[in-house]
Amino acid sequence: MRIGAISLAGLAFCTGFLTCGSRAQTPADVPHLAKQGDATQLIVEGKPFLILAGELTNNAATALEPMEPIWPKLVNSNLNTVLVGVSWAQFEPEEGKFNYNLVDGVIARARENHLHIVFLWFGCWKNGTSSYPPYWVKKDYERFPRIRIGEGKTVSISGPVEVLSTLSDATRDADARAFAALMGHIKEVDGAQHTVVMMQVENEVGVLRDTRDRSPAANRAFAGPVPAELMNYLQSHRDTLIPELRDVWAANGYRKSGTWEEVFGPGKPASLEIPIQTTASLLGPLEHENSWQKLHWPSDEIFMAWNYARFIEKVVQAGKAAYDIPMYVNAWLQQPNHAWPGTYPSGGPLPQVHDIWRAAAPDVDILAPDLYLEYFDSVCERFIRNGNPLFIPETSTNPANVLVAVGKYNTIGFSPFGIDGNRPIPPELAATYSLLNQISPMVLAHQGTDSITAVRLRQGDPPKHVKLGNYTLTLTYTGATTHIAPQPKGEVAPSQLPGASAAAQEPPLEAAAILISTGPDEYYFVGGGMRIDFTANTPGPQNVGLGDVQQGNFADGKWVVTRQIAGDDDAQGEILVLRPYTILRVTLYRFP
Ligand code: DGJ
Repeated sequence: MRIGAISLAGLAFCTGFLTCGSRAQTPADVPHLAKQGDATQLIVEGKPFLILAGELTNNAATALEPMEPIWPKLVNSNLNTVLVGVSWAQFEPEEGKFNYNLVDGVIARARENHLHIVFLWFGCWKNGTSSYPPYWVKKDYERFPRIRIGEGKTVSISGPVEVLSTLSDATRDADARAFAALMGHIKEVDGAQHTVVMMQVENEVGVLRDTRDRSPAANRAFAGPVPAELMNYLQSHRDTLIPELRDVWAANGYRKSGTWEEVFGPGKPASLEIPIQTTASLLGPLEHENSWQKLHWPSDEIFMAWNYARFIEKVVQAGKAAYDIPMYVNAWLQQPNHAWPGTYPSGGPLPQVHDIWRAAAPDVDILAPDLYLEYFDSVCERFIRNGNPLFIPETSTNPANVLVAVGKYNTIGFSPFGIDGNRPIPPELAATYSLLNQISPMVLAHQGTDSITAVRLRQGDPPKHVKLGNYTLTLTYTGATTHIAPQPKGEVAPSQLPGASAAAQEPPLEAAAILISTGPDEYYFVGGGMRIDFTANTPGPQNVGLGDVQQGNFADGKWVVTRQIAGDDDAQGEILVLRPYTILRVTLYRFP
């Protein structure tokens, strides 16, 4: 991973085949990643930036005019960034001829709406398939070979769509050339303004319906030795490898060389078909929620991870040589009823093969989950191991998840998928984004330290105890009340928005809050739906009183009190309730 420094590897690759942009950018000039404590943050215009985004449906930006109704929808729901697909087919309709109109139009409209952009490069692969490459690539199946699956069959993965193989330098170089052209153009039009803050490279790569590519080139590589580069990486990182990977290597005696099957264990026999729905029962009873999260047919998945990552590393190097901003790849995740590789794209950047991706693609900055699973927190925990920064490019609109991802897992950003769809953006998400927009400077200042965390409480959960600063906080679910805090001008109250769902009036099933300790006796709380009690955990008087409780918001970074809390609002000073969609500043005192 490269943080806050320019990659020279990209320069070396670039001189080989491309017209490259200048590498004379200083990290402070362009969006880049920087470490703060154990967090990694995105720095835009010299300051940490929290991406509060949504991802457009795949083809929303394939024409500019139909996008017009989308912009106000994003702005009115308090997004600060939008994730937008760029189709290789539209970008390079003829080989070597690039069409910049759409990219330019999207950047222009985003600027007018004060939004940032993360572009998604739909190059060789999207959702394991190859539907976005240009016609001149698709029709040339000799120059751009396809994968084979099963017993050597050329099998369509998704209707008539064939899938490009990673085992082709011609395919890799064509993709990299186009991506470099895109990045060079973004630098030209945006290198000073930084509307574009990050790039996704490809989309949910991996082989579907089999565990690996079985084309002749892939079979030859699979029968050959594991590359020395990967073996060296495993040996030098042996003590810190992700346990799922270390376990399969250990089971094969930590071999220092050999074929993929010798080093990592058996691949799947070609004749064994992957059931489309691999049910949990095929895998035996689930002992706990994580028991399906391991490598099945390890050598196949590891082989594919290496090959996708090697390919993408070259694409990323070419892109960064032209314009060096943070770049990530996203993963379609393993699921309880889709636990075998091939039921999810085999070789994608899933947690069990993160080390393989790190070894093969050091210029990829972030391995990101498309996180639709109910086990939101445990996926975050698996993705932040070994210092991988968290960014959630696709997810649902649950506002509790954004609070937890930001406050507990230091996410760089959060982005529900299909934000332009027919349904209104849920007002609960818009209200939560409003709070986070206001308080993000404070949140970002605390990220990576032990002065910030977040909690989630579901109806029926026992109270949670969190040690933070000089107190232990006891958090008890209360759910929504009829009192929705008055919103500042221009902000949204969930129940006031046009199209507010009935659910906006109902108690939320999940309460969540970010908790920040800002002084020896001072806290800010963001979110809501819970009661908060305090126990002193430092020497001195042990009784704790609510000294001063303010509800408010931040205007231009300054705290503005909108309601002073006492009397009936805190049970005459005895019970502190963080109501939904609010920010509280609480100062405590101690007495004997
Ligand atoms: C995940 C993909 O990455 C998206 O592009 C989109 O296809 C969604 N799935 C659809 O649910």
